[in-house]
Amino acid sequence: MRFRSVFRASLANIKTSRSRCFRRSFSRLQPQSDRPSFGIAFDIDGVILRGRTPVGGSPQALRRLYRDDGTLKIPFLFLTNGGGVPESKRASELSQLLGIEISPQQVVQGHSPFKEVVNRYENELIVAVGKGEPAAVMSEYGFKKVLSIDEYASYFKDIDPLSQYKTWRIKQTYDENSSMELHPRYDVYSDRVKAAFVVSDPVDWGRDIQVLCDILRYGGLPGRDKGHQPPIYFASDDLEYQAVFPAERLGMGAFRIALEGIFNSVSSSPLEYTSFGKPNPFVFKNAEVILTQLVSDIYHIQDNMDGGTGHEFSTLYMIGDNPKVDTNGAMKAGHPWFSMLTRTGVFRGKDNDSQFPADLARLLLSKDALAENLAPIRRVVVRLRTGHETISTL
Ligand code: G3P
Ligand code: MG
Repeated sequence: MRFRSVFRASLANIKTSRSRCFRRSFSRLQPQSDRPSFGIAFDIDGVILRGRTPVGGSPQALRRLYRDDGTLKIPFLFLTNGGGVPESKRASELSQLLGIEISPQQVVQGHSPFKEVVNRYENELIVAVGKGEPAAVMSEYGFKKVLSIDEYASYFKDIDPLSQYKTWRIKQTYDENSSMELHPRYDVYSDRVKAAFVVSDPVDWGRDIQVLCDILRYGGLPGRDKGHQPPIYFASDDLEYQAVFPAERLGMGAFRIALEGIFNSVSSSPLEYTSFGKPNPFVFKNAEVILTQLVSDIYHIQDNMDGGTGHEFSTLYMIGDNPKVDTNGAMKAGHPWFSMLTRTGVFRGKDNDSQFPADLARLLLSKDALAENLAPIRRVVVRLRTGHETISTL
């Protein structure tokens, strides 16, 4: 797995755009002495939600992070490997499901880092794969020539030899009968696809693997001469995640393995790809920048000469359910990250995970190590545990 450090160049950009939005939501002047020395990153699937249902007492727990007047008290964000809709839409959905006001800047999805490569592909033809609105996500990031894989595939008659058996496809906008009458928005027959982005969990694995193999083997022009493999980016590499079904579901990492296995069998050179999302430490670095910006927006801290706020967190809590990505990511990111593991999702063990042990277990073992600023987060966690479906921390 490769991850290019595309974050670094544009972390500064986050500040300017986010500032404007935050000032609106957190405009009440707060005393500087209240400035929290900690922030929180919540995983979504398996911690806050299962499908669209809140886990345990998560809405009540999150409400504790706001003041009585509804303004944010504790800087927090959602750090999920999921996605499929623009951050603004996810923020509204979460606000509705959880009954709190969440701003788009508090939502970091697996595909959020894709905006960092917009300069490379801004005017190039790209294909976006996955559930939800993958093309809308990429367009919102500034990519100008995006086609969803559904639309792209619809322009190539018989590219999916099984499509006639997929009765559920009849409902789709780009069905087999109408596809040939559609005039492609871009010249897909001579314009090479310059990159493919797996934005969210693919829906039709068989068709998507077929079409991606075509794009990747034929240099971005399916059915033509073999050519150099265009880059493919994955929003995350989760093998499994927790949804509504009692057992874990196969995630984007599983799709990547399937695509890679097949591509490597039919192609003379192995698949080259880049994966984003947790556990990459850059994701956590990015989250830290956003949380710092949140504090400065809540407390109206002016940026100093070097563009920083001078605010430093003593602790940033990552609350997750998947040791491999959530705990491992916090561990790789190092100080000030501190991992807390729940048992409501992927992790079902009795004790700590043996491969990626969370920090809270160690803290509970040595009481003297309990930092003073852990108290508020413990209250939140206790609240999380009050639901009938217990979230217990290690
Ligand atoms: O597709 C969702 C998934 O891979 C994980 O989401 O919120 O647990 O990081 P989350
Ligand atoms: Mg999770």
